[in-house]
Amino acid sequence: MPHPPQIWHDGPVLGIESSCDETAIALLGADGAILAEHVLSQPDHAPYGGVVPEIAARAHLTHLPGMARAALAALPAGQKLSAVAATGGPGLIGGLIVGSCFAKGIAIAHAIPYVAVNHLEAHALTARLPGLVPGGVAFPYLLLLVSGGHCQLLAVQAVGAYRRLGGTIDDAAGEAFDKVAKMLGLPWPGGPALERLAQSGNPRAVPLPRPLLGRPGADFSFSGLKTAVLRQRGAHAPADIAASFQQAVADILVDRCAHAIAAMPGTRHLVVAGGVAANQAIRAALEALATRHGMALIAPPLRLCTDNAVMVAWAGIERLRLGQPDSIDFAPRPRWPLDQDAQIKTRPDETGLFQVRHRPAPPCAV
Ligand code: KG4
Ligand code: ZN
Repeated sequence: MPHPPQIWHDGPVLGIESSCDETAIALLGADGAILAEHVLSQPDHAPYGGVVPEIAARAHLTHLPGMARAALAALPAGQKLSAVAATGGPGLIGGLIVGSCFAKGIAIAHAIPYVAVNHLEAHALTARLPGLVPGGVAFPYLLLLVSGGHCQLLAVQAVGAYRRLGGTIDDAAGEAFDKVAKMLGLPWPGGPALERLAQSGNPRAVPLPRPLLGRPGADFSFSGLKTAVLRQRGAHAPADIAASFQQAVADILVDRCAHAIAAMPGTRHLVVAGGVAANQAIRAALEALATRHGMALIAPPLRLCTDNAVMVAWAGIERLRLGQPDSIDFAPRPRWPLDQDAQIKTRPDETGLFQVRHRPAPPCAV
């Protein structure tokens, strides 16, 4: 099989995201200008109350070609596609294979470089998109990544150089939102629905624990909080439970971030990414924390916080600028920790979903 060329000719880059239940395509100019962006949040999973991997993979297969055609129609006159970047992991393997094979096909057909992007790296580098922050966000910065699948604090030191300061020892924050929403009978996905309900509730009405609060380090735990909600259900108004749960999560995130900030003296930016960053109460709490530490909170616009392909194309551009495209032989990876630390799904919890267990990180190279 002919390998696509490794040299990038500074032209538009196509980004493809297919690691979970968002099918997304974006076209960026070599300077990072967004020429086209399309996101399809697959509606197919709602009846199941969670993402069904097989359905997700099939939906990516159905939608990617049309969405790519639409994005490529935005190529500026006289310019050709010059590289293609696709999420290569971590995520659901079926969707990753669909997106990666699709990207490789385009790379081979157009004889252009291919980049396999780490989804977490894409979230981590989003803050550096030109135009987001005047002057751009320079390295190093602290990243709080809070989504349905991930909950970690990373020191972002350079492209490819990440140090994990803390992570969840059980659920991800978004996962906790989704599970508590389910307990309250809210529709999937739970986070946004819970935030809406919380608006009419009292955040101090229900006594809830804040696991690990004040403890050394920057790890997270949400399992005990979730169990406490389960016990309080029925004794309080759902809106009060929602508001109190949201407040507890905000308190936990702020406390853990404060510990991470202490581990990175002199850092000027706290960047938040992942779907939970859409939550206004959490954003406000983080904003106040950053201000207290003389830092700026960088929260990309919501559409760039949740899964999207702009971040994938941008991470691709960052890697191409360093002359680091990938081989066409790249095999998608369901697990692909940024700093070789790992979160392994080991056993189902009481909701029937799998729990995340923390594995201690080997010594970090950066
Ligand atoms: O980053 P994302 O789109 O996908 C991954 O999980 O990678 O994040 C989705 C997660 C879900 O758990 C969802 O419930 C949560 O982010 N989420 C929210 C809000 N919007 C989305 N959680 C709390 N408040 C929100 N407004
Ligand atoms: Zn994500």
